[in-house]
Amino acid sequence: MRRLWRAVLDQVTPYEAGPSLEELERTLALEGLVRLSANESPLGPSPTVIEALRREARRAHLYPDGGATALRAALARSLGVEPEWLIVGNGADEVVTFIARAALDPGDEVLIPDPSFEPYATEAALGGAAVVRSPLAGYHTDLDDMRRRITPRTKLVFVCTPHNPASTMVRGGMLLRFIEGLGEDPPVVVVDEAYRDFCDDPDTPDGVALLRRFPTVIAMRTFSKIAGLAGLRVGYGIARPEVIDRLNRVRAPYNVNRFAQVAALAALEDPTHLKRTRSLVLAERPRLLAALQTRGAAVAPSQANFLLVRTGEQAGPLRQALMKAGLLVRDGVAVGFPGHLRIAIGTPEQNDRLLGVWDRVLSR
Ligand SMILES: Cc1ncc(COP(=O)(O)O)c(C=O)c1O
Repeated sequence: MRRLWRAVLDQVTPYEAGPSLEELERTLALEGLVRLSANESPLGPSPTVIEALRREARRAHLYPDGGATALRAALARSLGVEPEWLIVGNGADEVVTFIARAALDPGDEVLIPDPSFEPYATEAALGGAAVVRSPLAGYHTDLDDMRRRITPRTKLVFVCTPHNPASTMVRGGMLLRFIEGLGEDPPVVVVDEAYRDFCDDPDTPDGVALLRRFPTVIAMRTFSKIAGLAGLRVGYGIARPEVIDRLNRVRAPYNVNRFAQVAALAALEDPTHLKRTRSLVLAERPRLLAALQTRGAAVAPSQANFLLVRTGEQAGPLRQALMKAGLLVRDGVAVGFPGHLRIAIGTPEQNDRLLGVWDRVLSR
């Protein structure tokens, strides 16, 4: 018998995104369901973005710019690098795919924190690599443990800061020393900064500064979170031109659609909206965190636009009650933290609603 499908697919489970927001609204007979389970933006896109999308609609029949030239130029200006240092993906997700496809051969090892953002392990497995997992120390990435797990076969190391789902940041000084310690023949270090825009710690690492210094560092960022463009799928990788050249060899010709490109450009043209989104998260994050702590929950010290909340046995009842009240939060079981809920920071009104439901459940 011909074996048609790759054996490695048995190791990969299809991503379970759950029912769509629209379907859930129908089944729960609730309008205006608020999704706090996917770390999306509480404000949505800027009006400038919406207008740019409207204008672009009449060009839907034309292929997009395959090189995302205008977007890379704008990003390059804002980051202080050259456009050759950038690659744009159909979400940062696709940048993970580029890196795995370009780097991995069977027998390689990919080092990731455990738990971590699912696609790292999936792409490593698809590349035929062995996934080496470094357990988090509580809610924190343990760089000492990661260092000990690096072998001559390690090809890729993923560092996620702020970490999804733990919400915590790796300290800049520690990350610098970790990369310095990799020596003369280092693996590729991917610094996933999807949530970096929400950091306010003075020791926040800067992937761009790191990759200027270390030629095998790749930083990944996205318009999904701070710019509220998750539905359009646009993220990017920043690295030395010789690294970007490797990644471009595995990229499909028109990988980022026309709407994603114009929307991302328009988002960069409205920095006020980006600041407003950041300010909202930075104001609501400590308020929600303190309010949940007052209610007896342990909360990881978040530098992201979401909180990881330890609720123990109450996780299930809380999640169910929140869903009935129209608020979706992520079950910790699904992201490697049983007894926890992962909750995106909403608007002040949404957060108040959440706290109201919380009180009702705990007073039962
Ligand atoms: C840590 C991390 N990296 C990357 C991504 C992917 O972002 P994008 O929506 O740009 O694919 C996410 C999305 O949730 C994430 O949590």
